[in-house]
Amino acid sequence: MAVREIRLLGDEVLRRKAVEVEAFDDALRTLVSDMYETMYHADGIGLAAPQIGVSQRVLVLDIREPEAPLGGRLAFVNPEIVSASTRTDRAPEGCLSIPGLEEVVTRPAEVTVRGFDERGEFYEVEADGLLARALQHEIDHLDGILFLDRVSPLKRRMLMKKWKRSREEARSQ
Ligand code: NI
Repeated sequence: MAVREIRLLGDEVLRRKAVEVEAFDDALRTLVSDMYETMYHADGIGLAAPQIGVSQRVLVLDIREPEAPLGGRLAFVNPEIVSASTRTDRAPEGCLSIPGLEEVVTRPAEVTVRGFDERGEFYEVEADGLLARALQHEIDHLDGILFLDRVSPLKRRMLMKKWKRSREEARSQ
């Protein structure tokens, strides 16, 4: 197990469409355990493989809600959203690849996601609330989409200004 480096906004791997996993082998299980460790180390609730520079369709989540399906802790390999509610929900989101930024994002309130765990077992989750939001956010990462792409152009411009400023400050320190 190892904590891997989290790629930040501007890294092109975050904009690439990740490829499907074909082998459910030890390398995949190591990737998943490294992703959990990296996520916990960064105090996040979700992480997608491209965020550690691996362009494969893998995500991990731990929303720390015991009443959620699987306790809100899960790994999905090759996940697919099979249905989404027309009812939407608005809530603030952040991202470990864009630290310091947060904005309200509108998404379907409920989704059904199917895919495989790291051992190759097929499963399906019906999610609402934070679990539904986190799943959609991480699946977006697998398609090269960031939460910034889901806010208005005006908000995005403001967020990008804030991001550039915070990066310049970080460099000058
Ligand atoms: Ni993210």
